[in-house]
Amino acid sequence: MHKSFVGCISAAVFIFLCSTGLSAQGPDNVIPVPSEVVMSSGTYRFEGEPSVKTVLVKKGFDSPEAYSMKITPKGITVKALSETGFFYAMKTLDMMTRNGKVNEISCCEINDSPRFGYRGLHVDVSRHFRSVDFLKKQLDAMAAFKMNRMHLHLTDGAGWRLKIEAYPRLTEFAAWRPHHIWKDWWESDRHYAEEGSAGAYGGYYTKEDMLDLIEYAHERHIEVIPEIEMPGHSEEAIAAYPELGCSGKQYGQGDFCPGNEKTFEFLETVLDEVMEIFPSEYIHIGGDEAGKGSWKTCPKCQERMRAEGLADVDELQSYLIRRIDRYVSSKGRKIIGWDEILDGGLAEGATVMSWRGTKGGIESMKMGHDVIMCPGNFCYLDHAQDAPFIEPESIGGYLPLDMVYGYEPQDDSMPCESLHHLKGVQANLWSEYIPTDSHAEYMYWPRAIALAETGWSIRENRDYESFRARVQPVLEQMREAGYSTFSLENEYGERKLVQTGIRHKAVGAAVTYGQPINQSYPGAGETALTDGIAGGWSNSDGRWQGFLSDFDVTVDLGEVMPVHYVGATFMQLAGPYIFMPEKAEIFVSEDGKEFRSIAQVWNDVSVKCPDLLFRSFDTVCDEQARYIRYTAKQCGIAGGWLFVDEIVVN
Ligand code: ACM
Ligand code: ZN
Repeated sequence: MHKSFVGCISAAVFIFLCSTGLSAQGPDNVIPVPSEVVMSSGTYRFEGEPSVKTVLVKKGFDSPEAYSMKITPKGITVKALSETGFFYAMKTLDMMTRNGKVNEISCCEINDSPRFGYRGLHVDVSRHFRSVDFLKKQLDAMAAFKMNRMHLHLTDGAGWRLKIEAYPRLTEFAAWRPHHIWKDWWESDRHYAEEGSAGAYGGYYTKEDMLDLIEYAHERHIEVIPEIEMPGHSEEAIAAYPELGCSGKQYGQGDFCPGNEKTFEFLETVLDEVMEIFPSEYIHIGGDEAGKGSWKTCPKCQERMRAEGLADVDELQSYLIRRIDRYVSSKGRKIIGWDEILDGGLAEGATVMSWRGTKGGIESMKMGHDVIMCPGNFCYLDHAQDAPFIEPESIGGYLPLDMVYGYEPQDDSMPCESLHHLKGVQANLWSEYIPTDSHAEYMYWPRAIALAETGWSIRENRDYESFRARVQPVLEQMREAGYSTFSLENEYGERKLVQTGIRHKAVGAAVTYGQPINQSYPGAGETALTDGIAGGWSNSDGRWQGFLSDFDVTVDLGEVMPVHYVGATFMQLAGPYIFMPEKAEIFVSEDGKEFRSIAQVWNDVSVKCPDLLFRSFDTVCDEQARYIRYTAKQCGIAGGWLFVDEIVVN
């Protein structure tokens, strides 16, 4: 078995290690950075265990997680309202002593409390099953950084992961698939396999497994939140019990049928067993990305809509979520769901997890609902953390450590009176492209540590350069303790052209569009193609402009001038359907009326290439022109995107 991080920490605190050459260490080491530190003179030297006096107080702190710690040359006094406060004080001490590597620390007083009560880490165990040992190891690391919620995504199309006594087929069958690699399964007929059959890949947790995990988490002051997806992302449950889908067929359906009472019988029975195992305040009911297509023609769904006076399928989803909300609330728990649960009307007791940006979260706060922020652009750790050409294959996107750290959950558009509904933040890791445990750890750490600091530390104390310096020795210790972390020392960073900018003749030139920019990817709007700013590794970085049509723009250079080069760079990333154009054509004009074609550039990149690619479609020329018209034809794949960052003219 691996050696756990906290296992190392605890052992190290209580075992005297001879001098390591490190001088007295202080609160500068601590992650997350404490609320207030007042330095005083002198150091505290200890042999063996440091002497820690704990004082349980009845008031003086707002949060049960808060603590104060005074270090004098004679010893350490910790005050807190609860065991959690003492636990976190010890975590701070562990950071100061570099997990027991030093026996001399600077005298100071620390007053510390969390900015947010919810500081979560999400683990997708559906796409790839993870062992309980793996989860415990992540709990150890979470505790070290004062994270307090582990969100387990237990069910999804790729496999059901929790044994349910009343519905044994969920784990005898829907927990297994013929393919190990998720993409192979996704591109196949997406069938499941019998447990124990040749080649069956997957797994599930028993009640005992989860009780063991919950107890382990509880000892580390972490709550485990189970997620049972509904009504979408439920292919596996429907494959096990086909009557739960609209068509009654085993395959080809992802949404439960909300017209069928059997669906509610199933969901309530599953939730009963879930709530019996998990004592968490929140029960996550998913709610994201339901297709809802089959509901439009299903007689049962249509009858439900008529009987309940529901105007559309969004309201039908809302009917299901509200009914489940009432059920879960009647058992003394709260539901939490992805921000799609807003569509069609938000259930009364629901807390919203805002992932499609922050808009849904802010709207929910204004409506008086609690919110956890995890916007994909900052909190989705499944995006590559470094240049994609040196990283393992990922779902796409680029989310380096500084971007995660730069996320500020409090937005100016949040009314003051709603701010108390902003409950916290969460780092999410979807695991389609993450088959192994070590790869998952590599994606979590250090980016989850950045979000841990965002969740705990006050805004004024956060500083990326300081964080980066503090986190590097911590990562080294994690690697020593057996974690696979990303190495910041080797970070390549953003596309070099983004860092340098592009100098050319058309910078600042006016651009007219023959086809509309897609409003999901406007980049900087009508100045994006001539702002001298290249796009980065991610098509959603706000620098690339996206088109679901052919591309057709005209650049006005302001006056006739010599033109020796015209080019534009396109991106290809087949996963999210971004492809090179079939061909680009470049025209020039002196008067803006008569255009001459000066080049046609044909694509030579296969649409099958799965890697992130950039290719310039350009021409070298010898022209006099004021206007440049640049057109690019889509490659012909239905639903395919064109992404372009700059029209370069020299
Ligand atoms: C999600 O990423 N579909 C919640
Ligand atoms: Zn139906």
